[in-house]
Amino acid sequence: VSATRLEVRAGALRSEPALPEAPGGLVLLADENTQALVPGGWSDVPRHVVPAGEASKSWQVLGGLLGALDAAGLDRDGHLLALGGGVVTDLGGLAASLHRRGIPWTAVPTSLIGQVDAAVGGKTAVNLGGGKNSVGSFHPPDHALVDPEALATLPAAHLRSGMAELLKTALIAGPEQTEAVRGLTPETLASAGERAEAVVESCLATKLALVSDDLHDQGVRRKLNLGHTFGHAFESLRLGELLHGEAVGLGLLCATRLAAGLPHTPLEQELRQLLGSWGLPVRAELEPEAVLTAMLRDKKRRDGGHTAVMLHAPGRVVVREGVPEAALAAALGAVLRPA
Ligand SMILES: NC(=O)c1ccc[n+]([C@@H]2O[C@H](COP(=O)([O-])OP(=O)(O)OC[C@H]3O[C@@H](n4cnc5c(N)ncnc54)[C@H](O)[C@@H]3O)[C@@H](O)[C@H]2O)c1
Ligand SMILES: [Zn+2]
Repeated sequence: VSATRLEVRAGALRSEPALPEAPGGLVLLADENTQALVPGGWSDVPRHVVPAGEASKSWQVLGGLLGALDAAGLDRDGHLLALGGGVVTDLGGLAASLHRRGIPWTAVPTSLIGQVDAAVGGKTAVNLGGGKNSVGSFHPPDHALVDPEALATLPAAHLRSGMAELLKTALIAGPEQTEAVRGLTPETLASAGERAEAVVESCLATKLALVSDDLHDQGVRRKLNLGHTFGHAFESLRLGELLHGEAVGLGLLCATRLAAGLPHTPLEQELRQLLGSWGLPVRAELEPEAVLTAMLRDKKRRDGGHTAVMLHAPGRVVVREGVPEAALAAALGAVLRPA
């Protein structure tokens, strides 16, 4: 992971960024929306465009992409450029890890989730069998080129969704970062230029610090799953309705209630208020039994109970093993609509 060269620069895509050295050829992956952001100087690179949205994180779309890399004659010295949101970087990273047993790639994240999370850390994936990220690999990009100006065209719902992910990382980092994120709104972030650069950079620094000693997710890195044990279950039950970040925001409320062991603590209420002020959902129409089933299927389960990430306070995030199912069920109350 430390091998990823990180470059956060507002205006990077406008300023004709250099193409990577790739004697074995280049292919650019984008989705039908993000292809509009391809820098002019990259327009000659053979391009593979996939439909926008989570549905492209599929076995079929992955197969199509691998076929395109092969057809383009990309060999082991080839290089894949993945320009888009988390869907494009998850899909592109997985294809890069598989083609000729692994080629280098560059992540050019264009969504907020991509910029603060998906593009770095090395996890790649597609969805299979109704589960999120059930097939994937660890294959960090060689280079992550992050241009916060790209956020200007990101649809508002996706901007909001990314705020939840930003908040998650800030809560792990501590009270100071949490305060900084609390002072933002989706609108100010998208138009902030250099200020956005600083926020994105600090968030990435937190993530990379947790990942660098733990690429394979055995220890401290698991803190980054804050809100995700619940969130992934919500997301998979409401695929196409709840965005990833929206689900994570709901998951943060559950992780808070799980840590407290009782409802409506001041922290839970504060987070609920903040998420709501950004336009994110704080309740969802969900069947508790179905959520638990989806959670227990989640790969983050370990033997002898369930592993859950608890949010006690900003900067006090604890990974707990052996959490009983009843505790998870009670924590769900934080987001279920009262019957
Ligand atoms: N690998 C990881 O560590 C990691 C971390 C977090 C999330 N993820 C994954 O990322 C995915 C979510 O990412 P996402 O929210 O970026 O979804 P996404 O890639 O679907 O992007 C959201 C939408 O915004 C569009 N878009 C992206 N950038 C744009 C721009 N600058 N201008 C206009 N439109 C733009 C896309 O075309 C898409 O329609 C999920 O599948 C999640 O599992 C992975
Ligand atoms: Zn996430």
